[in-house]
Amino acid sequence: MNISQIRAQFPALQQKVYGKPLVYLDNSATTQKPESVLEVLREMNGGINGNIHRAVHYLSVACTERYDKARKTIRDFINAASENEIIFTAGTTASLNLLAFSFGQTYVRPGDRIIITQTEHHSNIVPWQMMCQRTGALLEVWEMDDTGALDPKKLEQILDKPGDPPKLLAITHISNVLGIVNPLAEIIRIAHYYQVPVAVDGAQGIVHQKVDVRQMDADFYVFSGHKLYGPTGTGILYGKEKYLEEMVPWQGGGDMIESVSLEKGTTYAQLPLKFEAGTANFTGVAGLGAAVEFVQGLDNGSIEEYEKTLTEKGLQLLREIDGCTIYGMPGTYYGQVYEKIPVFSMSIEGAHPSDIAMMLDKMGIAARSGMLCAEPLLARLNLTSVLRASFALYNTVEELHFFVDSLKKILKILR
Ligand SMILES: Cc1ncc(COP(=O)(O)O)c(C=O)c1O
Repeated sequence: MNISQIRAQFPALQQKVYGKPLVYLDNSATTQKPESVLEVLREMNGGINGNIHRAVHYLSVACTERYDKARKTIRDFINAASENEIIFTAGTTASLNLLAFSFGQTYVRPGDRIIITQTEHHSNIVPWQMMCQRTGALLEVWEMDDTGALDPKKLEQILDKPGDPPKLLAITHISNVLGIVNPLAEIIRIAHYYQVPVAVDGAQGIVHQKVDVRQMDADFYVFSGHKLYGPTGTGILYGKEKYLEEMVPWQGGGDMIESVSLEKGTTYAQLPLKFEAGTANFTGVAGLGAAVEFVQGLDNGSIEEYEKTLTEKGLQLLREIDGCTIYGMPGTYYGQVYEKIPVFSMSIEGAHPSDIAMMLDKMGIAARSGMLCAEPLLARLNLTSVLRASFALYNTVEELHFFVDSLKKILKILR
């Protein structure tokens, strides 16, 4: 992969902050956008702008075509069986809230059980807590071990309890703190053996892995556009058609109806529009389509290979820092191989993560500190804050070295 050619397509990476070249290492939070995505947004905001699915005029038809094309692009990208299974949302959080509401209203009754893991982002915890409050269901937690790995035997113990099986397992593909890839194939196999559907939070997974929802056999898979080089305010809820057909809609309004009568009530549109009430973010969706086309245009094998190099090099360099603990290590746990993506969360003896992040910022390096929206995971590790550097395919090995060298300089000042 030619990284400099890729970088050249991202105007944001060319900027300086505080007069220093930007080294952007907060990609798990959000990624920068390539020129092809920006061009679509400029074109549409600048004139190709007409509300979709509503009018016969040129601009409406042009925007509708782009919106529908993006759905097809995303269907192909994750290998969904049908475009009916691709619901546009405002992001991972919106997808999970939609799912928790609609799945809960449709399938969940008082006393039912919902399972999440201890490694989840708040977006894959709070909507389920709220759903349990609404429905009277019980939330059970599949706890991680000291390394962040999840023992499948513990899952089986939860699934195998007397009574009805849980209604759903909601689990992240890749933790945004640990950066390790959960062995989903095995986890989904076990859950399905007990007749439990699985919802996967793919906010990080879709960015770093080739996702084939049918091969994975996920029942639901959600992600955000802005972490995948696309616009903010876009996201996907993938769901198997059999569930989406049965699930009640989440929000009501225009576009999601078949017929509205003040006397007879409302009938709903067919999938996928049943779940897309109101004027959709059609500009953003067209931009998301362009982002996915950008990723498809790269050689997938080479991306994974390159990111592996960044991960290995990063681990090697960070291990040389005295008192540095890295959370989430690749390896074999419980007979399953856990890969790691180039996301490094760490704590360093004698220096607070936010002090380090502030000093890195002044050197032009954007890194993250804090709880990373994963308070239960951090609490399990007896932590209240970590420093995180998260890399994307446009980051270079030189940037990695610069980050580690800068870290060493900062530690000399702070300790
Ligand atoms: C694993 C994971 N899940 C969910 C989210 C929430 O994504 P969004 O804020 O785009 O809705 C994030 C964002 O960092 C994440 O990393």
